[in-house]
Formats: sequence, structure tokens, C-alpha cells
Amino acid sequence: MKRPIDPRRYLVQFSSHNLPHIFTDVLIIGGGIAGLSAALEAAKSVKVTVVCKEGARDCNTWHAQGGIAAAIAPWDSPEKHFEDTISAGQQLADPEIVKLVVERGAERIREMIKEGFAFDRDNGELAFGQEGGHGQRRILHADGDSTGSAVLKFLLACVKDNPNIQMLTNVFTIDLLDVQKRCDGVVAYHPDRGVFLVRAKQTILAAGGCGRIFRETTNSPVATGDGPAMAWRAGVELMDMEFMQFHPTTLYVAGATRALISEAVRGEGGLLVNSRGERFMPNYHESAELAPRDAVSRAIVEELARTKGTCVYVDVRHIPAKQFKARFPLITRLCAGFGIDPAHDLIPVRPAAHYMIGGVKVGQDARTSMPGLFACGEVACTGLHGANRLGSNSLLEGLVFGGIAGREAAAAVSTEKEEMFLHSVQGILGEPKYGQLDLEDVGAALRSLMWRDVGVVRDQKNLDDAEEMINFWCRYVMDKIFDSPEGWALQNMLTTSKLIAMCARQREETRGVHFRADFPETKSEWHRHIVVRNSGRGWL
Ligand code: FUM
Repeated sequence: MKRPIDPRRYLVQFSSHNLPHIFTDVLIIGGGIAGLSAALEAAKSVKVTVVCKEGARDCNTWHAQGGIAAAIAPWDSPEKHFEDTISAGQQLADPEIVKLVVERGAERIREMIKEGFAFDRDNGELAFGQEGGHGQRRILHADGDSTGSAVLKFLLACVKDNPNIQMLTNVFTIDLLDVQKRCDGVVAYHPDRGVFLVRAKQTILAAGGCGRIFRETTNSPVATGDGPAMAWRAGVELMDMEFMQFHPTTLYVAGATRALISEAVRGEGGLLVNSRGERFMPNYHESAELAPRDAVSRAIVEELARTKGTCVYVDVRHIPAKQFKARFPLITRLCAGFGIDPAHDLIPVRPAAHYMIGGVKVGQDARTSMPGLFACGEVACTGLHGANRLGSNSLLEGLVFGGIAGREAAAAVSTEKEEMFLHSVQGILGEPKYGQLDLEDVGAALRSLMWRDVGVVRDQKNLDDAEEMINFWCRYVMDKIFDSPEGWALQNMLTTSKLIAMCARQREETRGVHFRADFPETKSEWHRHIVVRNSGRGWL
């Protein structure tokens, strides 16, 4: 296999001597649930700057439908939530982290209710939904199936009222700055300002996911894997990058974004049928439609191959129309936009890349391997999910670890020295090479490749092919110096794709969301994590 061009330490040329600076105590890269939770916590004692890649609503949190899992129902307990999360994680979930998240998460949800956040209720009582792998009804939701946007609006309103937080939109974070082996902020770009530096006493990476490197995905267009890629360039440790979770049911209509048809629909009785109208999940798993997501996604892939169909269908025709519409107003509207009436029509669905379980390795205090850098949310890998994330556990993790990151970063501002601001820092030197590249075309080819060869079902041959192809593209994309977000995002997509393919090839077993057709067993020798780090000597 020919090697790719090794990624440079920085994607752009710069010198701190001649670039504009913004100074802040805590810089937060990303404005989803984790980033804003971190901001609100840190702002209790220090000045905070949040930078968002595009608008304030352009993040995966905005699209979350199902809800937030929290063990606060009278029939539930953090212990039961712990058991379900550990069991889904297939021996890779970290018990201490799971305990911390289910316990603190339940507390945080109770606080949010006191602060005035309106979760949906039935007859005045909190309404708890059901999702796959959860042994209890424990999914809280808001505005029916718009939980993510409801939570984000709530957090944005709190941020807006907070004089210690400034939020900057349309800021593309290009790279983490390191000065004397610690993170010192970022080099960033704004269409009106050009390239500038944000020098921060502490930095929190909350840059979200990377689903957009796959052709089929539920993710926001901003989710191009910028976080893992910039962390890799800075030599920060990443963990579990092979574990990309595929959501079994996303709307499959030509021209439609691959919007979620929430797992909660199956929780409320929705059934999966194939193109012949036959219900198939009971043939694959004892929990049928409520089996864990990996099992449902694989069953759909198998069923598509068996019936030579292009999609399967969610059937909710037996659920009273009024009840469905009240519980799932967003999905009802979404379907109506394509002439589908769930009361009478089947909803066409297929799996799609949904959530990156792996990411920047952090400890219980949200610290990464790089001093001065914290991480939280989807970009981070805490060990909560192990090899398979339970639905609705990620918003909970974002709330809890966002809070931890914010608190720890703020505390570090007062205890760690500030002298790094005095040091100059320089990006790569040399002549810019823009080249004549059709970035759209390379991006589209990469997304197709990742879906075909690094998707729901993987094997050695496909993974080798994928790496070979990524290496080929890297050789003429990674040596360029671009001057706009499209080029940097493509470079990040290639780097993150390479990391996923490389780790997926290494893990020669099947576990959780990582299914190897050539190694279908779970192996005891793989009861461990893959941790990778760019040592500066190139790709592993
Ligand atoms: O199906 C869903 O609503 C997704 C929930 C989640 O990924 O947590």
C-alpha cells in the first residue's frame, strides 16, 4: 500500500506577529449541547468565547429527535441505566464514566426542569419514551420529536443573557495552536476578518461529529470531522475511531436529506417491513424492532440484499393518526413534504452514518492528552458508549461532560500560568499551492467510498481498498495550501476518513457497531481500545 502524504502540523501559513488576535480565558470550539453547557459552566467565573463553524443552529444537536435518556422515572434508577449502558457497550464501556454520566445526568435533568425547561408531559406527568437497548421507558423528549432543537434554543437563550460569554458564528477553526507543548488557542478564519488567532488560557474542543464523510448520513453539513483531524495534526490522542454508529432508519426519498425517522417511532410501536410488506426483525433479534441499533442496521442491510430492495419501510399505520401526529410532529411534517402520510403510507428508510463513538480521548475531568486542551460532546471519546451507543445517551453525555469541561477549564484558568501569550507561534512556511482541484468532486467520491467500503458491513479487502484510495487522494490534496473552508474541510475529511479506515482495519473482530464480515466473532484479545496519536513520524 502506497503511503499518503503525511499531514502537515498546520494547514495554513501564518505567523502570530502579523495576524490579528482575540484574547480570552476559555475558548470553546463548537456551539452544540456540549459546547454551550461548557460555556455556561465556565462563565460562572471567567470570560468565555464560543466559536461556531456556521450559524448557531448548525450542529448535530439541532437535529436530535428522540430525546435525552435520564433515569428519573419512579420505576427507574441510575443503576438500571448503568446496566443497560454497560451491556450495550460490549465490554468497552468504562464503568466509572458510565456511573458518573447516569448519576450526574439525572441530577442535571432535574436542574433543567427547575430552570424551566419544558420536557413533554402526559396528563401533567413527565412523558418517558422507549428506545432500543433501554430496559425501561426513560427517554425524555421535548416538542415531540424536536428535543435537540428545543434544548439548543434553551441553552442559546441562557448564553445570550450571560455577559461573560461572547459567541462568534461563521468562524472556521483551522488548527489548534501549540506553544511549548500546550494548547494556546487556535488559528481560525472568518469570511470578513480572514485568518486570525484566538489565544486562550484554556481551550475546549466541542466540534461535533464527522458523519458527513459518509454518503448516507443524518448529520448536519458542518460535521466534516474537523475536530478529530485538527487533534490528530496537533498530536493529541484519539480513541475508538473505528466505532461509527449507523442509525437504522433515515428517510430514503430521492432529494430528501437523510432525516431521522426516530428510533422512538419504533419505541411507540412502529414496525419494520421489507419491500414485500413482510415484517422481518423478529427473524434477526429477540427484541425485534427494539434491538440495539447495530443489530437493526445489519438486519436491514441483509434484508435489502435478500429481497434486492433499495429500502425497507417503517409501518405506523396501526398507530392512531392523531396520536402519531401529536408525538411526532416533525416527522409528520417531513413526510408530508414528500407526499407521505404515515397514517396510510409506509415510510421508506435505510441506515445512515449517525454518531461517531470514538474521538479525542479524555479522562473523567474532560482533559485530553494535550495540556490546556479539554474535549466534550461527540468529538470526545469518554468511554461512555464503549462499542455501541444507546440512543439518547449522547445528549446526556453532552450535558454532563460539557459541564465538567467548563468547570475544569475555568478552574485551570486561575491555577495555570498565562505566560504562553507572550510566545510567538508560526504555521508552515513555503509557497502556497492551490492547484486546480474540484473539491466537490473529491468530497463526493470520498463519501461514496466511505459508505461502500467502511460502512455497516466491513472486511479486509474493502478496508484495504478504502485506505489505498484515501492515500491516493491525500497525495494530491494534502500537499495543497488552501485559503478557504472548503479546502480545509476536505483535508479534514480525508484525515478523519483515514483514521476510521485504519482503525477499522486493525480491529480484526466484530464488536458493537464495528461489524467485520471476515471476522464475525467477538474476540477476547480485542477487549481493548485502539488509541492512536500522530507522533510526527507520519501515519501508523
Ligand atoms: O432515533 C433517534 O431519535 C436518535 C436518537 C439518538 O441518536 O440519540
